[in-house]
Amino acid sequence: SGGAAFAPGLEGVVATRTRLSMVDGAAGRLVIAGFPVEELAGRASFEETLYLLWNGVLPDAGRLEGLRGDLAARRALPEAAGEVLEAAVAGGAAPIDALRMAAGTLAPSGNDRDDALTSVAAFPTIVAACWRLSQGREPVEPDPGLSHAANYLYMLSGEVPGEERVRALETYLNTVSDHGMNASTFAARVISSTGSDLISAVVGAIGALKGPLHGGAPGPALDVVFEIGEPGRAEGVLRERLDRGERLMGFGHRVYKVRDPRADVLAGAAERLYASDADEELYRLALEVERTALRLLEEYKPGRNLDTNVEFYTALLLHGLGLPTGLFTPTFAVGRVAGWTAHCLEQRETGRLIRPQSEYVGPEARKWVPLEER
Ligand code: CMC
Repeated sequence: SGGAAFAPGLEGVVATRTRLSMVDGAAGRLVIAGFPVEELAGRASFEETLYLLWNGVLPDAGRLEGLRGDLAARRALPEAAGEVLEAAVAGGAAPIDALRMAAGTLAPSGNDRDDALTSVAAFPTIVAACWRLSQGREPVEPDPGLSHAANYLYMLSGEVPGEERVRALETYLNTVSDHGMNASTFAARVISSTGSDLISAVVGAIGALKGPLHGGAPGPALDVVFEIGEPGRAEGVLRERLDRGERLMGFGHRVYKVRDPRADVLAGAAERLYASDADEELYRLALEVERTALRLLEEYKPGRNLDTNVEFYTALLLHGLGLPTGLFTPTFAVGRVAGWTAHCLEQRETGRLIRPQSEYVGPEARKWVPLEER
């Protein structure tokens, strides 16, 4: 290993320099391409955030229109994607697996910017088509007249969404668009660093995002809220889980040792969405579950500084938008693909292969034993 220090989860290791986002875990601050997340997420359209991540500046009206058009023109899926999706859904694949399979049918073009556009544009079409097929319904053709976020909601339900719902989704997509050297972004950069193409990088990143320690948490986080059902049951249900040694989904973070700033942005967006909607009771229940969880985590895991992370309010917001829990992680990918592709473009500039070392702890001088003697 050459005597290098060993950090099993790479904690504290700075693996790259980036202009894309800064995560300050001690202060609970997230800055995306220069903008505090609170400043950006509720104001920008997803296309503006995407342009910002890819180019480092906000677009003027003409450039924004250009990007909208480029994305809209790439929303239709290759035939192979449709076939893969049908087979995946028929085989009972989870939507996040179906997204990985169908994203794998996108053909690399030999041009990074084109591949970035293709993957960002295609993800919502894939996820929505997968959902519709799993419901025994025909996929809805993308509408080039709608924005990226509006078109996603439209392809899911078949109805053009109101402004409020589009705003809520864009706030979510912007909030999760990039987040320092998280596991899936790191995976994308590693793949990109070998000189491989961007489609391969985002497909690998989907695999990294899927796990419950990363992007797989919001579904289970909401399932717990449903299981609890009424405020009075929160303590009992959560205690049972902690007594079994289980982790509470939606709490704790590798970098944030205070409240995840994205939780506040999404809680605000969820509150607005629920206030205009009928399900205010669920919002109040979730607040009580959060309060109880934080109190119990302090009791069971004192001094670990476990606080609410992005996933708890992701679950609430996406549920408020009518998305089923199975689409929470795929929708995370619809937002994070902005960051993945931006990081791949940035990685290309460095031209540096990411290739760390391992410390060998096995034996070193074994003698070969022929098969008949084993
Ligand atoms: N519930 C209960 N205990 C926890 C939790 C939790 N959610 N998170 C951490 N702990 C405990 C952990 O068991 C450990 O206890 P001990 O000191 O007794 O061994 C201690 O806190 C320190 O945890 P760690 O394993 O060093 O933390 P980590 O940096 O490896 O983990 C994490 C970060 C996000 C994987 C973890 O907090 C977790 O599993 N949370 C639940 C899953 C979740 O919400 N994931 C979404 C993460 S945010 C979305 C994203 O940005 O991708």
